[in-house]
Amino acid sequence: MKAIVTGGAGFIGSNLVRLLLENGASVRVVDNFSSGHRINIQELVDKGQIELFEGDIRDADFVKSTVKDADVVFHMAACVGRQKSIDDPILDASTNVLGTVNVLEAMVKNHIPKVVYSSSAAIFGELITPTIDENHPQNADSPYGVTKLAAEKMILAYSGIYPELSGTCLRYFNIYGKNQRFDLYGNVIPIFAKRIYAGEPITIFGDGSQTRDFVNVKDVARANYLAAIASTPTDVYNLGSGSSITINELARMLIEISGRKTEIVYAPERPADVKHCKANADKAYEKLGFKAEVELYEGLAEYMKWFRDNCV
Ligand SMILES: NC(=O)c1ccc[n+]([C@@H]2O[C@H](COP(=O)([O-])OP(=O)(O)OC[C@H]3O[C@@H](n4cnc5c(N)ncnc54)[C@H](O)[C@@H]3O)[C@@H](O)[C@H]2O)c1
Repeated sequence: MKAIVTGGAGFIGSNLVRLLLENGASVRVVDNFSSGHRINIQELVDKGQIELFEGDIRDADFVKSTVKDADVVFHMAACVGRQKSIDDPILDASTNVLGTVNVLEAMVKNHIPKVVYSSSAAIFGELITPTIDENHPQNADSPYGVTKLAAEKMILAYSGIYPELSGTCLRYFNIYGKNQRFDLYGNVIPIFAKRIYAGEPITIFGDGSQTRDFVNVKDVARANYLAAIASTPTDVYNLGSGSSITINELARMLIEISGRKTEIVYAPERPADVKHCKANADKAYEKLGFKAEVELYEGLAEYMKWFRDNCV
C-alpha cells in the first residue's frame, strides 16, 4: 500500500504511520507542524522510513504536488478542537474545509482512489441520546463541529461526482494514548496526567458522574487501516470503544496507576458539558470488522508510563 497521511506528525497520525510501516506500507507524511511535533516522526524521517513533505494543506499548489502517487490518503490534518475553533474560526474553517477541498482536488487530479477521513463526534453537537449511532441528529454547535461535518459532506459529494473516488469517514469519540501531549486545548486525560505528576490536585467539573467513551489510539490507527483495505462504498462510521466510564472512575484509575497521592477537587458543572456520551460502534464492526481491543486500565497504565517518561 502506498499511503499519504496528512497530519502524520500529530497525535493520531504518528501512531497510524507506525502501524502502516508495520504492515509494509510506504508512507508519505504531509504536515505543517502547527500542532504536530517533529519528535513524533523524526526518527522515521532520519532512517528514511517515511517521506516528509512540510507545508500547509491550505496551499492548493503544495497539496497538488505532494498528494499524488498513492493508493490511499488518510486525511487527518486539521485545526482540532471546539475552543480553538471559537478562538480562531478563520483558521478552523480554512484548514478543515478549504484544506479538505484541496486534498480532494489533488486526489481527483492525481487519480488516488480512496480517502479515509478523521471526523469527529463534535459533528453531533448537543447529544440527545446517551448512546450515539450514525443517525443521531447532527446539530454541530461549534465552528469545529460544523467544519468537520462540512468536510464529511464534501467527501460524500466528491464521491458522488467522481465515482472513481471513495471515502470512509470515521467519527472519533474520546481518544487517548501515546503521543498525546498536554496543550492549552488539552483533553481530560493529559490534563489529569500533568497535574498528578506535578503533585497538584485535579479538578472535576460537576459531580464527576458524567460518562465518556475513551478509545485507545492504537485501536483508532487499526480502524483507519481496516477502512483503507475494506472495499466498502463511501460511508460514515462512529468510532468509539462502545463502553463508557464516569470521570470519577477515570480520575481514580489514573491516580491509582500513578501511585501518587492526588487530591480531587470539584468545581461547578460547565454549561457546554454533556452528561453522557458513548458511541454505538456496531456499524464499524459489521462493515469494517473493527472492534476496540485495548482494555482501558491497561491502555491508561501504558499512557501514564509514556507521559511520565516523555512529558514530565
Ligand atoms: N484527538 C481526538 O480526540 C480527536 C477526536 C475527534 C477527531 N479527531 C480528528 O483526528 C485528526 C487528528 O487529530 P489529533 O488529535 O491527532 O490532532 P493533532 O493536532 O495532534 O494532529 C493534527 C495534525 O495536523 C497538522 N496540521 C494542522 N493544520 C495543518 C495544515 N494547515 N497543513 C498541514 N498540516 C496541518 C498538525 O501539525 C498536526 O500534526 C483531526 O482531523 C481531528 O479533527 C481527533
